[in-house]
Amino acid sequence: MPATETTEAPRPDTPSRGPSARDDGFLRDIWYFAMPSGDLAPGRMLAKTLLGEPVLFGRGDDGSVFAMRDICPHRGIPLSDGRFEAGEVECCYHGWRFAPDGRCTAIPSLTADQAMEVEKIRVATYPTVDRHGGIWVYMRADLRSTAEPVVPPPALPAVTDRAPGMVQRMTFPCHVDHAVIGLMDPAHGPFVHTSWWWRTRKSIHEKAKRFGPSDLGFAMLRHQPSRNSAAYKLLGGTPTTEIRFRLPGLRVEDIEIGRHRVCGVTAVTPVDEKTTEITHMIFWTVPWLSLLKPILAPFARRFLGQDRDVVVRQQRGLAHNPTLMLINDADVQAKWYFRLKKAYAAWRSDGVPFENPVRETTLRWRS
Ligand code: FES
Ligand SMILES: [Fe+2]
Repeated sequence: MPATETTEAPRPDTPSRGPSARDDGFLRDIWYFAMPSGDLAPGRMLAKTLLGEPVLFGRGDDGSVFAMRDICPHRGIPLSDGRFEAGEVECCYHGWRFAPDGRCTAIPSLTADQAMEVEKIRVATYPTVDRHGGIWVYMRADLRSTAEPVVPPPALPAVTDRAPGMVQRMTFPCHVDHAVIGLMDPAHGPFVHTSWWWRTRKSIHEKAKRFGPSDLGFAMLRHQPSRNSAAYKLLGGTPTTEIRFRLPGLRVEDIEIGRHRVCGVTAVTPVDEKTTEITHMIFWTVPWLSLLKPILAPFARRFLGQDRDVVVRQQRGLAHNPTLMLINDADVQAKWYFRLKKAYAAWRSDGVPFENPVRETTLRWRS
């Protein structure tokens, strides 16, 4: 590809149309990271807006997790205003009760002779799984459907089966597309993440990385990370790292240092069209890393905060709906993201079989 080729970035406000990509530019019929597992204790429920939809999450006393539309099918009050008792959700208005699978189990106002098939009343539910440190939810295109998910939830390295050593979260005031391409953008590092402990602008140099297609996304193939990252020096040995991106907004950095593993998971989840939640979790097997946690946590937070600050400033320009550019090769990952999204949306809305548009290649840039 010639280095001068530019492509206009698809705008978040003009996504491909179809049931799985509504006007909001969010992919549907796909798994999203909803929250860290620890947010939802047994016997509790928690309401969240995801992709502009009100979702009520709950966890039974046995640890099992469920999610349902947070709207009572009777007269529309949020079910989260009610209570969770004996494994069922009770609406605060007229006391209708719902099981985790969405079936209505009780309508208190019915008299003994008022026959009504209450179990035929249902709240829409969302498939959920609790693994890799988080609760993942399958956001359906058609809420009335009860079909099995068309893709499995993400499979992450085994180290993520333990509790995350560190969890950071932040809300970015932007559309999910800008959060995703901002986080995968390799060229902003020397300008946005300038800190004595990470790197300086002077450390900018040419990089060449091998990329290839991976499950619903692409991977920066396993390599030795660049030596200008102080964080890697701390780990000792010769680490190798592989970074995967998976639709709709998951970045997994898998670092191997001898027999040890460190895995960084960044999940990007749309709350609504102007709000995006970023959750960053780090899992490790290196025992002494836990001791460093109090020192590392503020740095990780500062790093993510730098990404957010730049997005906040970007909003001032985006408010005027400018034409944007994606250049080679620094923005090629962003181009892939939009192509992958388009291919997935076309599969779900028009039945065009999903084919990963990414081919193995080397990308070069200076950063
Ligand atoms: S509105 Fe929920 S029971 Fe009536
Ligand atoms: Fe960044």
